[in-house]
Amino acid sequence: MKPSAFSVSGLAWGCLVIICLFTSCSEEARQSRGFHLPEGDVDAGKVAFVELKCTQCHSVAGSEFSDIKSGTGHVIGGEVRKIKTYGELVTSVIDPSHRISEQYASREDIPEDKRTQTPMPTFNSVMTVKQMCDIVTFLHSRYRETGPEFPDYPMLMP
Ligand code: HEC
Repeated sequence: MKPSAFSVSGLAWGCLVIICLFTSCSEEARQSRGFHLPEGDVDAGKVAFVELKCTQCHSVAGSEFSDIKSGTGHVIGGEVRKIKTYGELVTSVIDPSHRISEQYASREDIPEDKRTQTPMPTFNSVMTVKQMCDIVTFLHSRYRETGPEFPDYPMLMP
């Protein structure tokens, strides 16, 4: 018996609904809701940052290192309009290519096609969870929020 057009489209819709249900379930399972980082230590974070040789490419605002001049390399920290969350910093450290920093993407000394890929390697098989928490706490402490910029409106009051 030939399947009628109705049952074929019914089957297709059924499959679509099932696919949607599954994808939304798996997306939900990958959400960060409930994620919490154990307390880190700023000083231990600075030590781990040097031990893992992050200073090969990074200087950090307000911190001195013997192997990189402050303000050179890809500078982490300093004045920003909105401070990065722990989640954003963890993601930058354990999945560097997930999102390229705006600072890097707008560098004019690097060819445009290179700016879309990060040169940062992953440290996931050598970095301990403690080192990661300490590093994130250290880096987080190096940002200073300036708040959003508001345009200057003329004063209406005398
Ligand atoms: C080979 C060079 C290199 C090394 C080594 C390196 N990084 Fe990076 N890292 C970069 C570059 C370039 C960027 C900017 C591009 C991007 O967003 O990935 C970056 C981005 C970051 C960012 C996001 C900063 C921002 O402005 O959004 C963090 C955080 C970071 N790195 C932490 C680390 C830590 C921690 C280590 C050591 C465990 C490390 N990096 C080692 C090159 C490096």
